Parts: sequence; structure tokens; C-alpha cells
Amino acid sequence: MDKNLDSSGSIVDQQNQRAWDAYARKQERFSQPVRDRQFADLLRQIRADPWFEGRLAGARLLCLGSGGGRQSALYAAAGAEVTVVDISSEMLALDREVARQRRLALRLVQASIDNLSALPPNAFDIVVQPVSTCYVPDVVAVYREVARVVVGGGLYVSQHKQPASLQCVSDLTGAGYVLSEPYYRSDPLPPVASSPLREEGTLEFLHRWEQLVGGLCRAGFVVEDFSEPLHATAGAARGTFNHRCQYLPPYVRIKARRR
Ligand SMILES: C[S@@+](CC[C@H](N)C(=O)[O-])C[C@H]1O[C@@H](n2cnc3c(N)ncnc32)[C@H](O)[C@@H]1O
Repeated sequence: MDKNLDSSGSIVDQQNQRAWDAYARKQERFSQPVRDRQFADLLRQIRADPWFEGRLAGARLLCLGSGGGRQSALYAAAGAEVTVVDISSEMLALDREVARQRRLALRLVQASIDNLSALPPNAFDIVVQPVSTCYVPDVVAVYREVARVVVGGGLYVSQHKQPASLQCVSDLTGAGYVLSEPYYRSDPLPPVASSPLREEGTLEFLHRWEQLVGGLCRAGFVVEDFSEPLHATAGAARGTFNHRCQYLPPYVRIKARRR
């Protein structure tokens, strides 16, 4: 590993680091490297993704909050020069193992997404961030750091948990999918059992739209596109993840460009 987290991480960082280390040991859902049979398909999808404008090959690309051996391996196989930042040393260990198996070069940095002081300014052409901003209290601090490390004209493609989905109970009740959590809040969301929507043992924060989108613009980015990855399935059994997604998209994806 090129860089290590110092011991001064916040209580939130320490708890989330422990929780994600435990997920990495279990290798489930978000902590499972891409399997061989999916790899070629996912690589094709990434290469064809119009949001990357055919710029992946040769790009200096930061996979932010992205340990686990999934995104890193795919972007490196697409020809990018990949750095991975993650708070969990065990998630990064999965990236290291995948890099060894697939003979890919990855730079691994253990750091929090809201403190990228280990990285120099203007070091990246593209920043890709899967869902991870929910694990820090202040999403704008993340945007500020990304604005510093990405070049002018560089791309920032990020995915976030949708605030209304975080406000709403996971399970179907007699009254439907009930909104149970306040929108205006700075404290972490209440702990939950693991579900497709929340990760047990982590501290998660709801970020409002004015922070997710307004904060991005104020940090020096122009939003160029926006999508809601589709997880709703017609005819899904009541109470399942795909049924809930018919009512509430769980994630949003934002394409932004550094001014
Ligand atoms: C939902 S996973 C996303 C990456 C995953 N490989 C995937 O398949 O999408 C969330 C990741 O964020 C990382 N993480 C959580 N809090 C973080 C923080 N403050 N700074 C950096 N990474 C963090 C976790 O360790 C985990 O790897």
C-alpha cells in the first residue's frame, strides 16, 4: 500500500473502517471482486459508457471510496492508470489481490474521501465514486477535495444514496413504504439490520439535494448529466427490494465536470 491512514481518523471514520473491514472479510455484495464470467461484460459496459467520452484509456483515474476489487480492476483493464482511495485496509487488500491475479497496476491509498491530503493537486483526469458519500457527515468536504485533485475540464462521476430512500423504512408496512426519518438532520441515521439499502454496523448520513447537487456546483463543478439507475422490476413480489424501487429509486448518478 502506498499510503496509510494515520491514527487521528474521526469516530465516524473509525467505526466505518471497522465495519467495512468486516464486510471485506465476508466478501458479499459490495465487497466481492468481479467474477471472471462477469468481467468481460462489465468491461464492455464501462468502455461504452458515454459519460466517459472514450477517455478511459491512458487517463489518470481516481476510484474514490471504491475498494473491494471491482471498479479498480475494471477501469485498469480499460486502460486507465488507477489510484484507489478507501478507508478500509481490508477492502484495499481485495484490490491488491485482484491486481495480482489479473496482473494490473493499481496504486492503493488508505484515506477518507473527505481528506485527500495524501494526493497532490490536479493529479487526475477522471474521478469515479461509487456509493460512499453516505459514510461521511459532510458531502461538500468530499467535493472540495475532489475539486482540488481533478484537473480543470476533468470528469467526476459519482453515485449517491437518494435522500428520500434513506428517509423511508426498508420494509413494506400496512401503510406502504413509510417516511420515518426527518430530512433536515446532521446526526447519523438510526442503526439498522443489513439490507440491500443500508449496511449494518456503519454510520450513514443523509445528504440533502441542495448539498448533493448545489454543493457540487458551489465546489466548482458543472453538472452535465444525471441518472437514476433502474432497480425497479415490474411484477416484483411485494416487499422485495425491487418492489420498493418501484416507489423510490435508491441511488442517483451524477456526471460533473471541473470548471
Ligand atoms: C458501497 S461500497 C462501494 C465500493 C464497492 N466496491 C462497490 O462494489 O460498489 C462503499 C465503500 O466506501 C468505503 N468507505 C466508507 N467510508 C469511507 C470513507 N470515509 N472514506 C473512504 N472510503 C470509505 C468502504 O470501505 C467501501 O469500500
